[in-house]
Formats: sequence, structure tokens, C-alpha cells
Amino acid sequence: MDILMNFLPISSKKALLFIILLFCMVSTPLKAVVKSTVSSSSSSVASSDQRDLITYFKSTRTLLPNPINIPLQNQSRTSKINLFTSSSLECSSTWNQECSNEILKIAHKKEHVHWIKSIRRKIHEHPELAFQEYQTSKIVRQELNKLEISYKFPMATTGIRAVIGSGQPPFVALRADMDALPIQEAVEWEHKSKIDGKMHACGHDAHVAMLLGAARILKAREKNLKGTVILIFQPAEEAGNGAKSMIKDGALENVEAIFAAHVSHQHPTGVIGSTRGALLAGCGFFRAVINGKTGQASSPHHSIDTLLAASAAVISLQSIVSRESDPLDSQVVSVTSFNGGDSLDVIPETVTLSGTFRAFSRTNFYQLLKRIREVFTEQASVYRCTATVDFFEDNDTIYPPTVNDKRMYEHVKKVARDLVGTTNFKVVPPMMGAEDFSFYSEVIPAAFFYIGIRNETLGSIHTGHSPHFMIDEDVLPIGAATHAAIAERYLYEYGS
Ligand SMILES: *[C@@H]1O[C@H](CO)[C@@H](O)[C@H](O)[C@H]1NC(C)=O
Ligand SMILES: *[C@@H]1O[C@H](CO)[C@@H](O)[C@H](O)[C@H]1NC(C)=O
Ligand SMILES: *[C@@H]1O[C@H](CO)[C@@H](O)[C@H](O)[C@H]1NC(C)=O
Repeated sequence: MDILMNFLPISSKKALLFIILLFCMVSTPLKAVVKSTVSSSSSSVASSDQRDLITYFKSTRTLLPNPINIPLQNQSRTSKINLFTSSSLECSSTWNQECSNEILKIAHKKEHVHWIKSIRRKIHEHPELAFQEYQTSKIVRQELNKLEISYKFPMATTGIRAVIGSGQPPFVALRADMDALPIQEAVEWEHKSKIDGKMHACGHDAHVAMLLGAARILKAREKNLKGTVILIFQPAEEAGNGAKSMIKDGALENVEAIFAAHVSHQHPTGVIGSTRGALLAGCGFFRAVINGKTGQASSPHHSIDTLLAASAAVISLQSIVSRESDPLDSQVVSVTSFNGGDSLDVIPETVTLSGTFRAFSRTNFYQLLKRIREVFTEQASVYRCTATVDFFEDNDTIYPPTVNDKRMYEHVKKVARDLVGTTNFKVVPPMMGAEDFSFYSEVIPAAFFYIGIRNETLGSIHTGHSPHFMIDEDVLPIGAATHAAIAERYLYEYGS
């Protein structure tokens, strides 16, 4: 996906930029902490790993079937979704290739493609930040009403939990995030963001449209569903831990497995990628305040030098990852701001440092937190200073690692290979970005996957959180079909 950057604006509002990640997702809900990324193409810091990954995804892509012109057979249904007077129901008792083909056919129907694009464009024009997704949520509810899909609202302020199927177990969930980013769109196109300073720069508009597309497909195939599909439209993925609030409000009630997708500029359009186990890192932030004694720099012996203590702490922090952690188990500790004022001749009373840390397991993650605190306090005391460290635990800024359940990952892989072809499914390496889907994956078996939007002809080559971010909308029907097939097939294979 994307090269992720975090902005950690400090009190002076001077944002210090720090690039760490490959991927665009989550961030911190601190009022003072806004996450953003810049374009990978404009970024000179893409690591060789990232470049390899991009090259990797550029490799063999076979063309996806384009069933737009394949006529659908008529079928008597009571459903009002006459677009889908569809499908021969070749797949009635067991799942087979015919089921995948039918779903893909429906998804690629001209009218469906047009509808799903129009929803995505409407949402793109009216981006809303975390927990303010009122219009977006309304658009989703209007479409659900038209489709005669029942839902619960509100959850977590703007969130929606919709239900399709028999109402009986098993319950399988699909999730889309709805929030946009505080970024000014730099792409000039017909459906550019109409809200100054806000943009769907991480593809959540596409996520919502794809999930609605899946809703429509699943509704048309409701009779086939051997259980119940729950659609979760959640607020505040970028900031504020929307997933956590949705879970608290009952989004996962009865649900035994959950899936979600994220668009990725690193995969060609429609290519699906995922991996078993840890996929995205856990993410936390810290701010340390080091206290000493101010004094004239010309007579240092009358002061207690906070800058020296802070500098020593920065150096010592580097040894946590390099000396204390398993080199095969990636972790990151990065200091991103260092502020002691701007005097030329006075040693400051306090110095404030901020930063972030990442790990792929909860154990490592909390071990990092503990050691960061220790290093600051102990290192400060070496230089006769004191230190306090805030991890903003109460501000929903801690994101656990996103870990794919082995069985659920296998399910995604199987579905994807049947749907888009074996060569269009890629096993991807874990990435240092974070994503609040992790909260679901802590509670029930879950799998997260990427779906490619890269198309050089169109210029959809920019990372998420870039003001140049754009998507190849051809992904929308494929994403809708993938969601629908994941859920429908899950019910076939795990239902009674
Ligand atoms: C953390 O949350 C508390 C309570 O909502 C708030 O007062 C405080 O300003 C927040 N801290 C930051 C750094 O945003
Ligand atoms: C399908 O339905 C349409 C509209 O009801 C009708 O015009 C068409 O002839 C039907 N096609 C088939 C193959 O039955
Ligand atoms: C990129 O988009 C163009 C225009 O829609 C399309 O013709 C082309 O097939 C796409 N390329 C890929 C690799 O998807």
C-alpha cells in the first residue's frame, strides 16, 4: 500500500515529520496528533524493501475476466433488486467455481458498476473526519433502505450494522471504514473533494462503496445464504479507535469471523494480497517531558542540563531494538520531535520529546512500552533530571497488531484465487503500518487483505495519505465481488 508518515505536531504546532511505514492506515486520535502520509513517489525514503515489494506486485498479472457483456439468465425472485434477476443457482448445495463466476458477473454488470462508482464519487466529494461521518453514514443507510436491508444505527456515533441472510448462525462479518483525512486534495478531477482541507486519501470511500456493492450482490443472492452476513460500516479508523467503539456497541454480537479489505497502490488493480499471522504492526505513541534546572549556558554548573539528558535518552532508546529484541521479529522505536525552545544562551527548564513505536505481537509491543518508560526515567536520572512519559493510554492511541487467523487467511486466499485467478493472489510481507481492524482480530478469528488499485496509465500510483492519492475505480466491482464471495462461501463451508 502506502508509505505511511506520521505527523506529530508538538505544542508549538510545528509538525515534525517522520516516515516509517509502508502502509496507510491507522493513526492516533490525539487531538494534537494527526497522521498523514506522503506520496511514495515523492518520497526518497522508500526503503529497498518497499521498492522490492512494488516490483513484486508489478509482476505477472493475468487479466481478470471481464464479464460485463455476459448476459445474465432471468430468474424469478421476489427481490426488488431487479438488476439481479440473476443467476442460475448452479451453486445450490456446495460451493463451486460457478458460484464465483456468478458473483463476478453480477458485480461487473454495467448498471452495478455505474451505481457503485457513483456512490464512491459522492462520498469522495464529501469527506468527513473521524466520528463526523454523518453524511457518509446517511448515504449508506439510504442505499440499505433501497435494498431493503435491515440495520442497526447509530453505533459508535455514525456506525451501522446491517444484516443479510437467514438470521441464523453462522454469522460472518465484513467491515468497511468511513472516515476521511485532514488533507487537501491535490488531484484535479471531476469528483474532487468539495470540502477544503479534507480528503478521502486512504480509500475509505472505496471501502464503503465496495461493501455496499457486496450488500447488493448478497441481497440478490440472499436465498443462497446458509447463515447471516453482518456488514459493519464503522467510523474513525484513522483516529479515535472507531473499531473499539463499534465492538463496545455490539457490532460483533454472534459474529464468529470477520474480514476487511484495504485498497493498495502497490498491487495492480484487482490483485489481492494477504498473509498468514501478523500483517500490520501494533502502534503506540509517547511524549516524554524531561525536567531539570534552567540557567545561563555560560555557567552550566548552575543549571541541570535537560538537553544533555534528553540527548542521552534518544541515543539509549536506539539500543532497545538493536540490542534487546529478536532481529527476526521486527520492531521500531522512533523519536520524532525534540523541543527545548529556541534560546541561544539559556539551558531550558524542560525538554519535550515525542515518538512512536511498533511491534508485531502484543508481548513485544508492551515490552517496548515498558522499556521506553524506563530508558527515559533512568537516563534522565543519570544527568540529575527527572522524566515523565505519557503513552496516551486513555486517548485511544494504542493500536494492537493486526494478526490474520490462519484459517481465515486460507479462506481469503481460496476465495481470491477462484475469483480473480491464482496468479492474482499474492502473499505479502508484513508491514509496519497499523490499522484499527486489529481490535476485531483480537476478539474473533479475522483476516485482512489488500486489493490493488495501481494503474500507471491512470496515475493511481500514489500512497495513501498523499494529497495525490487516487484509485483505479475498476477495483470497485472486484472488491464488491470479493467481499460477497468471502461471506457467502464462508457460510457454505462453515454453516451447518
Ligand atoms: C487525552 O484525552 C484527554 C481526555 O479526553 C484530554 O483532556 C487530553 O487533552 C488528551 N491528550 C492529548 C494529548 O490529546
Ligand atoms: C428476461 O427478462 C426480461 C425482462 O423481464 C425479458 O425481456 C427477457 O426476454 C428475459 N430473458 C430471458 C432469457 O428470459
Ligand atoms: C488502467 O486503466 C485503463 C483505463 O481504465 C485501462 O484501460 C487499463 O486496462 C488499466 N490497466 C490495468 C493494469 O488495470
